[in-house]
Amino acid sequence: MLLNDTDRVLVTKEQLAARVKELGQQISRDYAGKTPVIVCTLKGATVFFADLIRSIDIPVTLDFIVASSYGSAAVSGGEIRIRKDLDNGIKGKDVIIVEDIIDTGLTLNKLTELLRTREPASLKICCCLDKPSRRRVDLKADYSGFDIPDEFVVGYGLDYDEKYRNLDAVYVLKREIYE
Ligand code: IMP
Ligand code: MG
Repeated sequence: MLLNDTDRVLVTKEQLAARVKELGQQISRDYAGKTPVIVCTLKGATVFFADLIRSIDIPVTLDFIVASSYGSAAVSGGEIRIRKDLDNGIKGKDVIIVEDIIDTGLTLNKLTELLRTREPASLKICCCLDKPSRRRVDLKADYSGFDIPDEFVVGYGLDYDEKYRNLDAVYVLKREIYE
């Protein structure tokens, strides 16, 4: 069973549901009268994104992007590659990028840099999880679900080797699985 590969739950279903609802309400208030473009970064953010958009009660449009860092995580810091770009232009639009987790911050740093060149009216970041102790660039989410310690987590969209995304909460993966 999938759960046998995990050590313990770090963020429960109930905590996720309550916090996602709060984030949706906050976004609805902050963007009242506007129609923001909510951008899902595939694949990790899918589960969070699906819950988040349903807790927003103002009009939104949706778009999807796939970005990956060149090379391995260990040598990351370089460029990112867009494997699937947004379907629509964002010039003059209010954009919210939805991300599963901010670790070093390098990926989102590059992604926001790229999207800013397209001249959106505004660009904000909404992440589900944040590991502030791992940050290597000065990057802060505008909306953040939970600060977590430096542990490798899976579930609620997050993977190890493309697996565990379908776990319904955030779990610490057993070290023996990835070491
Ligand atoms: P960053 O560029 O170091 O911030 O990388 C962020 C990306 O690394 C996330 O979008 C995840 O795909 C991945 N990542 C970082 N930490 C974890 C984790 O604990 N579990 C699963 N994926 C992670
Ligand atoms: Mg990933």
